[in-house]
Amino acid sequence: MEDDHLLSSDSILEDQGLDRSIRPSDLDHYIGQNEIKQNLKVFIRAAKERQEPLDHVLLYGPPGLGKTTLSMIIATEMGAGIRTTSGPALERPGDLAAVLSSLEPGDVLFIDEIHRLPRHVEEILYPAMEDFCMDIVIGKDETAHSVRINLPPFTLVGATTRAGYLSPPLRDRFGVINRLQFYSPEELAMIIKRTAAVLQTEIEEDACFEIARRSRGTPRIANRLLKRIRDFAQVESDGIVDRATTRDGLSRLHVDEAGLDRVDHQLLTGIIRQFHGGPVGLDTLAAAIGEERHTIEDVHEPYLLQIGYIQRTPRGRMVTDLAYEHFNIERKDQD
Ligand code: ADE
Repeated sequence: MEDDHLLSSDSILEDQGLDRSIRPSDLDHYIGQNEIKQNLKVFIRAAKERQEPLDHVLLYGPPGLGKTTLSMIIATEMGAGIRTTSGPALERPGDLAAVLSSLEPGDVLFIDEIHRLPRHVEEILYPAMEDFCMDIVIGKDETAHSVRINLPPFTLVGATTRAGYLSPPLRDRFGVINRLQFYSPEELAMIIKRTAAVLQTEIEEDACFEIARRSRGTPRIANRLLKRIRDFAQVESDGIVDRATTRDGLSRLHVDEAGLDRVDHQLLTGIIRQFHGGPVGLDTLAAAIGEERHTIEDVHEPYLLQIGYIQRTPRGRMVTDLAYEHFNIERKDQD
């Protein structure tokens, strides 16, 4: 079959010199976030030239934008090892002390959801980040004394959906603070092409853009939708992801023309129908639609704000005219 409009997986893999993992392994293959990428390249090169670890890095932004991927790339680019853990997993000071004392010189320590570190655990991090040491209390009661333990130089990479939830002393100890942005449809289309190549799936150019346009600026969503549509294509068609299969699949996955899913719909139509378009407080809204407040705040709201479907006001959330138009609902003036 003549396939000039199809993207053959092997040729893309060869063109990009890729391995077969969905995650890109170095900065040159990481698509988007260009400003962050260019800056990181400089900081990494400077640290390597000085034979020092990279300064501690904080990555924040909505879920699915590539914070974990970027942390792995930082380790690779530094030629360093990586240890991965998360805020909720480090319940006691001893948990963090154990991780810190197992680090090798130059390692990257990645702590996901770092805003969920308990405060008494977080305090261990301050001297560890600043002076590469930790103070451990040995013994009990009147025999208790503190011993200072030196740690190898390391780079902490912290990731969070909520920079605002970090305590100021922790936040101040990061030398590089980056906010990840939503991706453009063009960037997402490139990521989808790349993922299709890794999955050895043929995909048409306009199918790439159809998924890209409806992935809420988020690579994790784009890759998930691609995998499901590939399932439809494989089972019900010839295995090639084309535009018709994609449009049909997206509709069966309840992803609308703007990429909004069921929860986005509930949220927007909930504000419109139950609260006359708002303003409505977040807790009231969460209870009304039966969704967690944090899920609304972290997962759904950021993109709806970005595309201008909702606004945050001091009195609560309001739906904009754009959202009314999207649902083809006429705004009724309130008395
Ligand atoms: N897969 C997920 N995020 C990616 C990115 N930013 N670049 C390339 N591939 C990705």
